[in-house]
Amino acid sequence: MKTIISVVGARPNFMKVAPLHKALQQYPTAFRHLIVHTGQHYDPAMSKVFFDELELPKPDFYLGVGSGSHAQQTAKVMTEFEKVMELQRPHLVVVVGDVNSTIACSLVSAKMNVPVAHVEAGLRSFDRTMPEEINRLLTDSIADYLFVSEPSGVVNLKREGVDEKKIFFAGNIMIDSLVSHREKAGRSTIMKDLELTPGSFILVTLHRPSNVDTKEGLESILSVFERLAARTTIVFPMHPRTKKMLSRYNLEQRIEAIKNLKLLEPLGYLDFLHLMERAKLVLTDSGGIQEETTFFGIPCLTMRENTERPITVDTGTNILCGLDTDLVVQTSLDVLSGKVKKGSIPELWDGKTAERIAKILVQQLSSETK
Ligand code: UD1
Repeated sequence: MKTIISVVGARPNFMKVAPLHKALQQYPTAFRHLIVHTGQHYDPAMSKVFFDELELPKPDFYLGVGSGSHAQQTAKVMTEFEKVMELQRPHLVVVVGDVNSTIACSLVSAKMNVPVAHVEAGLRSFDRTMPEEINRLLTDSIADYLFVSEPSGVVNLKREGVDEKKIFFAGNIMIDSLVSHREKAGRSTIMKDLELTPGSFILVTLHRPSNVDTKEGLESILSVFERLAARTTIVFPMHPRTKKMLSRYNLEQRIEAIKNLKLLEPLGYLDFLHLMERAKLVLTDSGGIQEETTFFGIPCLTMRENTERPITVDTGTNILCGLDTDLVVQTSLDVLSGKVKKGSIPELWDGKTAERIAKILVQQLSSETK
C-alpha cells in the first residue's frame, strides 16, 4: 500500500482536493490517503465551512501556519511540513493550485526525494509580479507528475523543457466539485436571504494584491461600484485581505455608503455556487471563478491585465478588462443590456478529472520501486 499526502492550505485548494480524496478511496488496497492542512487560511469562513460542505474528512495534520510575509509563511509551512514528512514517509505528495503552501510543500518533498504530483500544472500568466506565477513556475520545475487542466498548460510545460512523459492532460478538477455539488447548491436559500432574484445582480470578488493593496486600486474599484450600483444590485462577499486594506486606507465609510451594494462576509462553497449560477454578471480577479463562470456560461469580467487560464477567454465567457475603470464599467453595462459573449465548456471539464488522475497514479506508482 502506498501512502499519499495531499496538501491544502488556502480556500481555492479545498475544492480541488475533495474530488481527489473521493477518487483515491476507490482504491483502498492501493492507497492510504492523508490530508495535511497547512493553516494558511484559518478563518472558519475561509476554511472549515469548505471541509463541511465538500465532505472532506478532518485533516490528518493541521500545521497552524497562519498569515505572514511570503518568506515567513512559506518558511513556516516548510518547517512544519518536513516534520510530517519525516513521520509519515509518504510515497507521493500531491499539491494543487498556486498558493504559498503549494510551493512550500513541493520544495520539502523534492528535497526529501519524495515524488510530487502537481494538479493544475502548466498555467502561466507570464506576469512574474504575481506571487502565484512564481509559485507555479517553481512547483512545475520540481514536480514529477504534472496534471494539466487546459491545453495551454501542455504547451507551456513543453516550452519550458518538461519531459513529455511527466505531463498528463487530465482536465479541470475544480469542475469535478462543481458538478458534484451543483444540485445541493441549488437548494441554498441565499437568494431569498438576500432578497435577490435570478439575473438581477452582479456578483463581485476581488482580493488580488495588485488590485486591493494600494489606495489607488481600491479607489478605482469603489468608483466602479458607485457607477454600476446606479444600474443594478451588487453582491460583494469580501475577502479578509480586501477588508483589511479598506480599513487601512479608511475607505470603509465610502463603500458602506453605496446603496444597492450588499457587502457580505466570505460565503461558503454552496451559497457562492448558487449565486454565481444566477448572476447576470460576475466581476472578479480570482483564477478559479473565471473557470467556474465559463462552465456555467455566465458572463465574467476579469479585472486583471492577464490570465493564466486563457481557455476561459478563448472559448469561455471570460473577458479581460484590466484595471481600466471606464472599460470595466462600459463592458459591464454592455452585458447588463444583453450584449453577452457566448461560450462553451472546455474539453475534459466533465466532472471526471479526479478519476482520471487516480487511475494514472495507480499505474504510475505501481510501476515505481520506491
Ligand atoms: C491566497 C493566495 C491566492 C489565492 C487566495 C484565495 C498566496 C500567495 N496567495 O491569497 O493565490 O487566490 O489565497 O483566497 O498563496 N487572512 C485572514 N484570514 C484567513 C486568511 C487570511 O484574515 O483565514 C488575511 C490576513 O490578513 C492575511 C491576508 O488575509 O495577511 C492574506 O492572506 P494570505 O494567505 O497571505 O494570502 P491571500 O490574499 O488570502
